[in-house]
Amino acid sequence: MTDSPKTSRRDFFRTASAGALVSTLAPSILRSAEAATSPNDRIQIATIGLGMMGLNDTNTALMVPGVELVAVADCYDGRLQRTRELFGDDVHTTRDCWEILDRDDVDAVIIATPDHWHQKLAIAALEKGKAVYVEKPMVQKIEQGAALVAAEKETGKVLQVGSQPVSSVVTEKARELYRSGAIGKLNMVTILISRNDALGAWEWPMATDASTETIDWERFLGDAPKRPFDPQRFFRWRKYWDYGTGVAGDMYVHRFTTLHRIIDSKGPVKGMATGGVRFWLDREVPDLHLGLFEYPETDSHPAFTLQLGANFADGGHGPVFQLIGDEGQMSLSGNKITLSRTAKVDEEGFGKSLLRTFAKAEQEAWIEAQKAKSGGREAPQTTGLSGTIEYEAPKGYDSHLDHFRIFFRAMLGGEPVLENAAYGFRAAAPALIANLAYRENRIVDWDPEAMKLT
Ligand SMILES: NC(=O)c1ccc[n+]([C@@H]2O[C@H](COP(=O)([O-])OP(=O)(O)OC[C@H]3O[C@@H](n4cnc5c(N)ncnc54)[C@H](O)[C@@H]3O)[C@@H](O)[C@H]2O)c1
Repeated sequence: MTDSPKTSRRDFFRTASAGALVSTLAPSILRSAEAATSPNDRIQIATIGLGMMGLNDTNTALMVPGVELVAVADCYDGRLQRTRELFGDDVHTTRDCWEILDRDDVDAVIIATPDHWHQKLAIAALEKGKAVYVEKPMVQKIEQGAALVAAEKETGKVLQVGSQPVSSVVTEKARELYRSGAIGKLNMVTILISRNDALGAWEWPMATDASTETIDWERFLGDAPKRPFDPQRFFRWRKYWDYGTGVAGDMYVHRFTTLHRIIDSKGPVKGMATGGVRFWLDREVPDLHLGLFEYPETDSHPAFTLQLGANFADGGHGPVFQLIGDEGQMSLSGNKITLSRTAKVDEEGFGKSLLRTFAKAEQEAWIEAQKAKSGGREAPQTTGLSGTIEYEAPKGYDSHLDHFRIFFRAMLGGEPVLENAAYGFRAAAPALIANLAYRENRIVDWDPEAMKLT
């Protein structure tokens, strides 16, 4: 990878004029998900894994006109009971995920199990002719990615990964601003996932009735190593490598998905990571983790470095998602973007404190030379615009709903989804690389085009 871009900053992006910058601030939904379906369209869905996100996904999917829930599978009887309480007894409930895939009345499945089940269930569902909405990370292991990309291609069925920020109007706005040259030439991205509470650190409630009577433990384990029943592993599976993917697969994935959309990237070529179990000592996966990723120059972005981290005892520091360029910076926070532009010095550095160290005659000669090359100006000039502008999505805006609208629209023959298997793999892989680099204490090379470790 070279550090000397073939293109200059000026070639790369047209520097935004004041007018252009302001005019881009009117909200615009470029990938509008409105009118995805009509109430006459009938799409029957089933959910596999109706825990925290499965319930959230299901409720959101059901907000789209014409979508109906016909079946739910889960390993914990309490969650099947809850399904019937919420959606009625007509919804078929079962502990057996395979039974769901055999049903003819299911058009699409939501796979919201822990990560270790994602790839296997997604491939099986595609092969049974179902459209698939699979939660992020698309795969738990890098070596699982290619088979799922191939299954999507071979079956021709719609697959969308559940990283909803990719469908957000906020991401689209950030993309629009980035492409207009609002921050100049990108050189660095800083992302920090910051939390400071037990829930954020995955110490989730465990049901008091949890036992091998109420939980299908063998089904939960699936292909993971056999172990005796442990409610911690069942309800707090994110803390263990056998079922989850650590902070990287849980949270970095959303950031890779979002960043790749904003700058039209296929991903980094290199990743490294460090960290440890520092505060929440009851786990295998790190609660303090930092990664560095090198992105190569492409047609849509220059070479840049991403620093990405997670801290589960952050002292109230708060999260960061910041794209830094030579003419400004753009921060994303919730449904808001803050864009700060700064005037930049294009020419030779000028400082009186340095000039005065030259002999008097040289000081005069230097000023004369400076004036000659800058049209009579004594000091080098700053260029560009300064100021801070904010963009905020409409109140109550929900990217999750747009993400489902896009999925169902694609199922009905509309525009294909953006976050398909290749996109999902290109977001999951760098996160998994961060884990690999951390666990094996090495730099990991990746080919984002071919989607292969190198
Ligand atoms: N998109 C997002 O913003 C987002 C947010 C949170 C979680 N997630 C993802 O959603 C997935 C689920 O996370 P969660 O927080 O809901 O976990 P959870 O523990 O609350 O729920 C998981 C459920 O899956 C069930 N399950 C496990 N194996 C199963 C199997 N073989 N068949 C049927 N059910 C099975 C469990 O019984 C459990 O009820 C994870 O992959 C996570 O990364 C995504």
